[in-house]
Amino acid sequence: MKVVSIVGARPQLVKLAPVAEALDRSGHRHVIVHTGQHYDAGLSDVFFSGLGIPAPDVHLGVGSGSHGVQTGGVLAALDPVLAAERPDWVLVYGDTNSTLAGAVAAVKLHLPVAHLEAGLRSFNRRMPEEHNRVLTDHAADLLLAPTEEAVRHLTAEGLAERAELVGDVMVDVCLRVRDAVRSEGRAPVLPDGVDPARPYLLATVHRAENTDDPKRLAAIADALAGLPLPVVLPAHPRLLARAEEHGVQLARGAVRVASPLPYAELVTAVLGAAGVVTDSGGLQKEAYLLGRPCTTLRPETEWPETLAEGWNVLVPDPQLLAPAAWAAVAVRPAPEGPRAAPYGDGRAAGRVARVLAERA
Ligand code: UD1
Repeated sequence: MKVVSIVGARPQLVKLAPVAEALDRSGHRHVIVHTGQHYDAGLSDVFFSGLGIPAPDVHLGVGSGSHGVQTGGVLAALDPVLAAERPDWVLVYGDTNSTLAGAVAAVKLHLPVAHLEAGLRSFNRRMPEEHNRVLTDHAADLLLAPTEEAVRHLTAEGLAERAELVGDVMVDVCLRVRDAVRSEGRAPVLPDGVDPARPYLLATVHRAENTDDPKRLAAIADALAGLPLPVVLPAHPRLLARAEEHGVQLARGAVRVASPLPYAELVTAVLGAAGVVTDSGGLQKEAYLLGRPCTTLRPETEWPETLAEGWNVLVPDPQLLAPAAWAAVAVRPAPEGPRAAPYGDGRAAGRVARVLAERA
């Protein structure tokens, strides 16, 4: 079997790592196409080296742009690549513009498409990620769902026949890296002024809904600055760019700005933290898997399983814009008692390789 994986943004590289390993282990031919949506070394290269992913076979170099320019650029650049490779499966990951472009390019060439992390929904039609998920799921031939909830969403949209529950490949990589950093006895690498031996919070903000509206971004920056614990903020380039554009100062009060972290350093930083504050989907789940309370700066989540027992708490709109109201939520102890395992057993990537081979 020959599979072409299309990736381009940081969270896709994390998902690609266990899938590439599983396809390689089963002796399948795997061609990796990097769209170039993320081009900063800290958002891309360090994930290949750090997670042991083979270098991309093809680099499209599409880069940044409006949604239309970025999605269209990937779509056009994929045509000759897919036509030459003619794989048994085109595999697309998650919910980025690269995901949608990959799915559409494959469909137009009559190539079978599988969508990894199918069926997630925020039901917020203002999010670019929600457009990408819904459109990709309806275009794809095989929907590799991470959770039972995702299968329910696909079923509700008439897509049950194409759905397959495989579990979440992010569990595979998160638990493997957790075990490695523990056995190496790694300490978190934190910005100057943050003592890893004392409680701190780890925060990330990058969603367009939070960064692109000046009022909202200012409210989030105020709230982070006023928190009673040091806040380590590894800043996504979008956050830095929008903060500068809107004249919002990030590094003040409790906040220490850092560069984006490679995956193992991120896991180490979560393990060392008293809690996580984020608008990232992946980080909500990593906090849950690693047993740290998470505060999500969004009114909804695609990962509602993390809300159980208060492991994850959402900050809906009126509260988000009134920083004093959510500061108390962000600093709270971890719930007691065991957590369920709604995201699977850490062997999802092997199932992905098997299902693809069975249906090739
Ligand atoms: C994208 C995905 C989002 C995913 C996120 C993870 C879409 C619509 N969004 O958001 O689903 O959660 O990746 O990070 O696909 N930039 C750089 N260097 C880079 C990449 C981006 O400086 O390597 C800057 C550019 O100014 C760009 C901005 O960040 O305009 C946003 O990048 P973009 O790829 O549009 O979306 P992300 O916010 O990264």
